[in-house]
Amino acid sequence: MKLIDAADYAELSRAAAGIVVEQVRKRPDSLLVLPTGNTPVGMFRDLVAAAHNGDVDFSRARFAMLDEYAGIGRNDERRLYHWIRKELFDPLGVRPGAVIAFDPEADPECEARFVEQRIARQGGIDLAVLGLGPNGHIAMNEPGSDADSRTRLVTLTPATIRSNAAYWGSEAKVPRKGLTLGLGTLAEARALVLLVAGGGKAAILERVLNAAPSDAIPAAILGAHPAFTVVADRAALGLHA
Ligand code: PGA
Repeated sequence: MKLIDAADYAELSRAAAGIVVEQVRKRPDSLLVLPTGNTPVGMFRDLVAAAHNGDVDFSRARFAMLDEYAGIGRNDERRLYHWIRKELFDPLGVRPGAVIAFDPEADPECEARFVEQRIARQGGIDLAVLGLGPNGHIAMNEPGSDADSRTRLVTLTPATIRSNAAYWGSEAKVPRKGLTLGLGTLAEARALVLLVAGGGKAAILERVLNAAPSDAIPAAILGAHPAFTVVADRAALGLHA
């Protein structure tokens, strides 16, 4: 595991964007998985700036969604695809055809299998950037998820519903189920990057970095990946800025 210790959130965002830019320069048609949430907002801003400055060309890049709420409509404002489209895909000019997205109106089991097949058919994930849940979840792989779990329908835990309430205004507005790439699916990516920002994540990051891998902390399971980079700011590392 490689740890990049960023002084602050701006440096974390620059470092994360730098890893994505380097990947796309090396392989312009990379299949990228990027997270939603508050943590990647700065990385998205830096990626859009890099593309607009001509530092990187995303026109051949391909994307797959990391997760999606289930039981909502395609046009529901909470659909995570719309979130990332607004923050990244539209500003970058990414065509919908370049994105493997979950259709929340399709049969969830079929949709999960279909997303797995499309990722495999496209040659697998080159780089997955991940956020860390306060309970150690990765995407919607909640504590207890198997290390070899595949893309599937899951039930969100109360801790995730609580933290996701910050996005939608209340817990009542958070869908109870989701579709997520599995831990086994993510472990097959050629490289993984975990972004962790802020003092609120210090306790769980400490466990990810130091606890023995167990299914109690999904993020720690992925720590065994041979190309796993944690990008954390000093607050998340429990250090003074
Ligand atoms: P956050 O979410 O980036 O909004 O903290 C991360 C997560 O819960 O996976």
